[in-house]
Amino acid sequence: MLSRLFLWVARCRWAPIEPRAYDRRMVLTDPIHVLLIGGGGREHALALGLSRSPMLKTLYATHTSNPGIARLAEPVDVPVSSEEIYRLKQFCDRKAIDLVVIGPEEPLALGWADQLRIRGDGTERWVFGPDARGAKLEADKSYAKQFMRSASIPTAEARIFDRPEHATEYLRSRDELYVIKAAGLAKGKGVVIPKTNEEGLNAIDAMMRGGVFGDAGKTILVEEMLNGTEVSVLALMDGKNIMILPPCQDHKRLGDADTGPNTGGMGAFCPAETISEQVMRQLETDVFVAAADALRRDEIEFRGVLYAGVMLTAGGPKVLEFNVRFGDPECQPLLARMESDLLELLVATASGRLDEIDLRFHEKHAVCVVLASKGYPKDPQLGDRITGVERAEAMDDVFVFHAGTKLDPDGNLITAGGRVLGVTALGETPELARKLAYQACKEIQFEGMQMRTDIASFAVTAPR
Ligand code: AMP
Ligand code: GLY
Repeated sequence: MLSRLFLWVARCRWAPIEPRAYDRRMVLTDPIHVLLIGGGGREHALALGLSRSPMLKTLYATHTSNPGIARLAEPVDVPVSSEEIYRLKQFCDRKAIDLVVIGPEEPLALGWADQLRIRGDGTERWVFGPDARGAKLEADKSYAKQFMRSASIPTAEARIFDRPEHATEYLRSRDELYVIKAAGLAKGKGVVIPKTNEEGLNAIDAMMRGGVFGDAGKTILVEEMLNGTEVSVLALMDGKNIMILPPCQDHKRLGDADTGPNTGGMGAFCPAETISEQVMRQLETDVFVAAADALRRDEIEFRGVLYAGVMLTAGGPKVLEFNVRFGDPECQPLLARMESDLLELLVATASGRLDEIDLRFHEKHAVCVVLASKGYPKDPQLGDRITGVERAEAMDDVFVFHAGTKLDPDGNLITAGGRVLGVTALGETPELARKLAYQACKEIQFEGMQMRTDIASFAVTAPR
């Protein structure tokens, strides 16, 4: 019920568009060729959504070493790298790619969208994902903080340092809890929540002097520690329109009851009913419309997804971070619920036509449980044989998304990354979705498999 409401409130147009009767129109009239960049669970979920569209002619993918993606897409037959991005450009021309979908943050930060947007003949190709300037909202936390301040977007207070001695001096003068963040991209590991001042000082030393994150840790933020429930609110932006998607909740810590180290995400559910309609409205105006205005002010045309990691504090919602891509694993339960044609949605975003989309989601709830390898996140063990995936995915309303898997030379499925699989299930209620996801997880085995047992348990207990 609530999720239907969210969609209604969330369709906001920040540039005036002539009101018109709402009718279902096709964004595409002919099937198209698509290139998908990225190889994790998020991209497997995207590949599945795209492959279901009647408007897809061929799906090509850069990462067909992911067996889930390989089942759905043709491989790209040129080397894929920033140094040789011209090869991917040539590939797009040769295969007449109409839409490029960029999943992860690194290629966006490196300007792949800027490059691939231009065809060999100088005309423009659709790219889902912002240019490098827009991607800075994720790739440079110091820029993002200044951007949020200039747009009056509610966020945690922070000081920015590029000299370790100044950061150290500042820490010594503080007695409240704080969070230390590397400003650049650090594969989700650049945030330290120190328990003691000594831990904080060590983190500064490791980042700024020791170079654990290379250039990404040369500038750091010391941010006030916020308390509350964390939610992921994602919005599609096409340069003119904003479409807020049903909110999700991610579980970042490795262990049950939010214990252990931070990870890329051990599971997620959608919709997150812990967030009220009133707060969604507030986020719409104070975060997304404000961000869209500031992007326009800075002449950045943002065509992709803006993800706000939000802490629901006693003093109102505050943005912890911006990402410029779908969250992972959030993308998995989100897309599992999507009824609209994903291909048309991404084309509409990339071509400034979101106002033509009729966005629909299942009433059902979705829960995704991540199965991680032994040693994750510190030192993931790779190469372990995985069994039972076929049994799990044969279950109704269950999707098993491949994140860190590959086939060995004998064709056996083995672990090839920290987060191995995202087991996603749909159910009439959060309880049922959760139960089904865990039933499916029981079918899957590999050595040292790590899994939280409380994913979505607060969705289950939240008053409805
Ligand atoms: P970020 O990459 O900035 O999202 O940080 C990763 C995770 O660290 C977030 O998802 C939060 O769980 C936590 N975190 C980041 N900033 C803060 C903060 N200011 N207060 C409390 N927790 C935070
Ligand atoms: N799940 C958090 C992220 O994608 O950054």
